Amino acid sequence: MQTFFAIILLLVINVAGQGHMTSPLIRIPQGDVENNLSITRSPTSSYPCGSGQNIGHVLTHYTSGQSINIKWEIGAAHEGECFVDLSTTGRDTDFKTIGSIPNCADKIGENQTNIQLPTDVTCDHCTLRFKWLAKLSGETYLNCADVSISDPQKGLNIQKTNRKRSCRSCIARGGSAK
Ligand SMILES: *[C@@H]1O[C@H](CO)[C@@H](O)[C@H](O)[C@H]1NC(C)=O
Ligand SMILES: *[C@@H]1O[C@H](CO)[C@@H](O)[C@H](O)[C@H]1NC(C)=O
Repeated sequence: MQTFFAIILLLVINVAGQGHMTSPLIRIPQGDVENNLSITRSPTSSYPCGSGQNIGHVLTHYTSGQSINIKWEIGAAHEGECFVDLSTTGRDTDFKTIGSIPNCADKIGENQTNIQLPTDVTCDHCTLRFKWLAKLSGETYLNCADVSISDPQKGLNIQKTNRKRSCRSCIARGGSAK
């Protein structure tokens, strides 16, 4: 009898959803956290972002060319390949694939990998999309994260200017001491 209920529970969990990106933070529709992410983790045919169609606040900040960590969880091992897509328009258009994750859903559980961001893209508001094309079920899963990508050189230039400035005052002080 216990086994029977365990099987029913497993079926319910499977119906409720099969997987999603856990990092970076994704858009989650209202009420779905309380609902154990059953909508977020469900297959979808709604492009571009599945249940996360409402563009949200930027929650994650990257620099261009950065190797970023992507985490996801799989609730049903439907196999297939996952993709990381990037839209730079701030409007969820023009998604381009920047990384692929083969065999991303062979096993139930959490997994992670690193993907390199393009070196020539900066944006105040980009959308990073996780796309799982499940081989055994033919389903599609889509999750979107609102991110920014800044120029790592900009930070360096500011540091250089500051160093130059402090060095100049240091020479001036050195001169007056003589
Ligand atoms: C969410 O999961 C918890 C723990 O597994 C469970 O107690 C709760 O009933 C679930 N809520 C819904 C709405 O499915
Ligand atoms: C985790 O993902 C990698 C692909 O990045 C895959 O090769 C590996 O088999 C996966 N591990 C598990 C336990 O699914």
